[in-house]
Amino acid sequence: MSKTFYITTPIYYPSGNLHIGNTYTTVLCDTLKRYKHERGYDAFYLTGMDEHGKKIETVANDRGVPPIEHVDELADATKELWSKMKIDYDDFIRTTEKRHKSVVQKIFERLLEAGDIYLGTYKGYYCMPCESFYTDSQLAENHTCPDCGRETSELEEESYFLRLSKYQKKLLQYIETHPDFITPETRKNEVVAFIKQGLNDLSVSRTTFDWGIKVVSNPKHVVYVWIDALSNYISALGYGTDNDKLFQKYWHGDEVLHVVGKDILRFHAIYWPIMLMALDIPITFKLHAHGFYMMKDGKMSKSKGGVIYPETILKYYGLDELRYFLLRELPYGLDGLFTPEAFVERINFDLANDFGNLLNRTISMINKYFKGDISAPSEPLDDIDNDLRDTAADVIRAYKENMNTLKVSNALQELWRLVSRTNKYIDETMPWALAKDEEKRPTLEKVLYHLAESLRHIGIMLKPILLKAAPALFDQLGIGEDHTTWQSMTFGEKKHYHVIDKPTPLFPRLDVEVEVKKLRDEIAGKTKPEPAPKADLISIDDFAKLDLVVAEIKTAEPHPDADKLIVLTVDVGGETKQIVAGIAKDYEPDALVGKRVLVVNNLKPTKLRGIKSEGMLLAGSNKDKLEVIESRELNPGDRVK
Ligand code: ME8
Ligand code: MG
Repeated sequence: MSKTFYITTPIYYPSGNLHIGNTYTTVLCDTLKRYKHERGYDAFYLTGMDEHGKKIETVANDRGVPPIEHVDELADATKELWSKMKIDYDDFIRTTEKRHKSVVQKIFERLLEAGDIYLGTYKGYYCMPCESFYTDSQLAENHTCPDCGRETSELEEESYFLRLSKYQKKLLQYIETHPDFITPETRKNEVVAFIKQGLNDLSVSRTTFDWGIKVVSNPKHVVYVWIDALSNYISALGYGTDNDKLFQKYWHGDEVLHVVGKDILRFHAIYWPIMLMALDIPITFKLHAHGFYMMKDGKMSKSKGGVIYPETILKYYGLDELRYFLLRELPYGLDGLFTPEAFVERINFDLANDFGNLLNRTISMINKYFKGDISAPSEPLDDIDNDLRDTAADVIRAYKENMNTLKVSNALQELWRLVSRTNKYIDETMPWALAKDEEKRPTLEKVLYHLAESLRHIGIMLKPILLKAAPALFDQLGIGEDHTTWQSMTFGEKKHYHVIDKPTPLFPRLDVEVEVKKLRDEIAGKTKPEPAPKADLISIDDFAKLDLVVAEIKTAEPHPDADKLIVLTVDVGGETKQIVAGIAKDYEPDALVGKRVLVVNNLKPTKLRGIKSEGMLLAGSNKDKLEVIESRELNPGDRVK
């Protein structure tokens, strides 16, 4: 039976469009999943959306749409992006789904019963963008958020608390006895230092808004969005339900990996393991917190301009270009920079020149000198051949080691060592010179064979990374599936090559000036539009269709056949109209006479319980009362706009 590998991304907030920062995590996880799959693992990749919380409610309100509509829309858009990017996820969990909500409710009740959650009062400061609470002492200058620097608001309310303090020691012990639990090392040290300062119990419910999962035993509380969100890693596997096969298989399997950005390290390194300890669920996961992609002007934010979106790269360049850049340019454990210059250079140097050209030249020479067919050499090998083979073996080792420790950028660097060595092999063997001497034909064939085999190695290691170019390489060199597997990656494994006649270059060179300018413009000007306001908002023209006027009530009588209705005659400015209004519950007819009210004057006449009504009276209401809207100074017939 194959080993299992369970890998997760953070579930993203539907608070705006995903930029290449968020995309990085998703691409990284996709690559790791594909790599593990190549290595024979049974891999399961989970991603999704974190759809509850005050922040999302506010974003939706600002757009004038119900939160559920907003999150539906963004979940669809996100899935569409991942499908464009060929992200090979196995499940997409949304925290508004029933399967998730019921698990969170169970988890919360279990923690209550166990006494690890208790009811208290919360006094503190709240940062909405971070969905985080802070005590006075945790705040930065001027009561700003210590994480993002924005303003916080003070609040005091009844709240449930999770006993972090109780687990502090146990967690420290766990981290110390599991040295590879948190990577990179620097992040682990941050976490340890933070825990050693002492953990305050964590407020884990809110009563000030609705958009969340209700606490079953006390429904005026909704579950704090981070308790809700973190649970996704097990709710998606069916934890706590009748069907927990996936949970048993993957959570209790061989390898579990949460990949997150450094911004949410603490939630995953402290709250989540403590939740699991309190729930008696084993901590099987490892946590990797990577650095951030930054723009020259600073941080990327979904709601701020000046960032680069994956769609832009896909539109002008391609998926492989995007994946390669993202994976190559972010150094392990550090932040990286997206600049148009760096992007274009990576494509031109690494992909077009070093790699693409190597493939192209190799195929051309096999065609030119051997009409497209070559075989494994019978000749003895030279030092140069052996050196190439040794480099390949060493690169495989280094590539594996780096991929296994999540150092994908380093893995690519290693792989390019083989690309360079192979290019150098051409310079050293000079096939064009060998071709001039009929006696050297066997040597020439041996050289070209080594080039093809080396490229086959490169292609196999590129499979999890370049989703179009790797298969294209196999295609152009005529390599069938048997020889694209990890197991087949030794020199001499494929005996014969029959390459295609006319290879198309995989990565055409870019014009630096043109492309840099294009990307700069995209970043500077055209930030992607926010999700559009809904169609059920009306335009000013729609509103102008209403003929709203002031009217004076002349007579008012109860409707003969309906308790709720009053029949009015009103003066709308030299003309008298009859209006039937549903206001009897709140007004005596006599009290209405003489009032100057607002009416819709161009409503199609209709009959209400048999009596003609030629307009509509404006009234406002709440759950307690209804009030007719009055004018004090205006005269009948005056227009309202
Ligand atoms: O934090 N560079 O969601 P989120 C690299 N819903 N990665 C970046 C990045 C950047 N500039 N900006 C964001 C949340 N990311 C919570 C998570 S999980 C139970 C709940 C990535 O939409 C990075 O992975 O704010 C970061 O952790 C994540 O996006 C935050 O996404
Ligand atoms: Mg965020």
